[in-house]
Amino acid sequence: MNDRIETYKVKIANYLNADPGNIFLHWKGRVSLYSILKSMNVGKGDEVILPGYTCVVVPNAIMYLGAKPVYVDIEKGSFNMDYNQIEGKITKKTKVIICQNTYGLSTDVEKIVKLAKKYKLYTIEDCTHGFGGSYNGKPNGSYCDAAFYSTQWNKPFSTGIGGFALITNPVLLDGMYEIKKQLIVPSFMDQLVLKVLLFTKRYILSDLLYWPMIYTYRWLSKKNLILGSSSGGEISGNLMPYDYLKGISMTQVNEGLSTLARFDELQDLRKKNSDKYTLLLKENKKIYVHEIWNKNHSFLKYTILVKNRENFIKLAEKNRISLGDWFTSPLHPARESDLVIWNYKMKNFPVAVEVAKCAVNLPTDTKYIDKTLDFVRNNLDEIY
Ligand SMILES: Cc1ncc(COP(=O)(O)O)c(C=O)c1O
Repeated sequence: MNDRIETYKVKIANYLNADPGNIFLHWKGRVSLYSILKSMNVGKGDEVILPGYTCVVVPNAIMYLGAKPVYVDIEKGSFNMDYNQIEGKITKKTKVIICQNTYGLSTDVEKIVKLAKKYKLYTIEDCTHGFGGSYNGKPNGSYCDAAFYSTQWNKPFSTGIGGFALITNPVLLDGMYEIKKQLIVPSFMDQLVLKVLLFTKRYILSDLLYWPMIYTYRWLSKKNLILGSSSGGEISGNLMPYDYLKGISMTQVNEGLSTLARFDELQDLRKKNSDKYTLLLKENKKIYVHEIWNKNHSFLKYTILVKNRENFIKLAEKNRISLGDWFTSPLHPARESDLVIWNYKMKNFPVAVEVAKCAVNLPTDTKYIDKTLDFVRNNLDEIY
């Protein structure tokens, strides 16, 4: 059994040019983030800088430790933190800067790490969208003191739910081992439910059923009736769920080994499809992923900005296009009216708020790219 865990770590580490001993596996990516923050001794009174356009579980992990999330607005082109606004957010209480590879687009990580070193701060790269991409020739996640990755449903490779941490700064290793000892072992039931969901995704989910199944899954997980990406409590409040700190299960390890084996092929498809979207959008003078952002990203999704998102999603549903709707709010998927819970004041992050109103994600891993390109071509008037 442990052999498979070790093999999984080795396979992941090969992609990251890392030592398998520096990989820590968890039930979800957010548990990796929480563990990293704890190993950095983040606690009451500390501040953590992060993008003002992220998943709500990121500020949750910070707040579970008693620290304060301090957001930075994003740039429209990369959907990542605007580098020029970071330094102004640093105070005597700042301990960590978290940067992110939103939708698989790399961030200004070298500059961010340099800035953090100047102020003696730790850095974490949120690579939940960015596994498989690189920045200046080094894999995403290798520049910061630590990085975390997600293997949830729609992530670069999937184990249903899942995640892992990569530790680059050896000072953090003892803390990570300490937390590892406290991890809850996933139950038989946890694994059974996950297996059923994995089976459903593999054999039942199709373009035809994509939308009804997405809506049903989200509704059930919000009501805590099914093993969801986030429980209802995580997206409507910031109290730590009792079973949050969970380790990885063998179901996830086995699934990860099998999906990683097909990763290169998938990644190749994502890049080729993204090039086609870029060409079409550029030719038609629409906003596209500009070449400066277009080197070695992982292109998990190809995000475009549309004039009326609700309408565009309806059109996609009608045409059976597997469109994504991340992020539906600047702290996805929490409701905008609830964002004060996470210390988020919408008026301070105009770009993030605007993007969250009009972003939709074109699929990059589709085998039916011509159908999706036709859909985009036929609806160019709807796109910025
Ligand atoms: C930007 C970002 N960070 C963190 C996470 C958390 O990952 P996980 O669901 O594996 O905990 C997500 C999940 O979608 C995400 O989109």
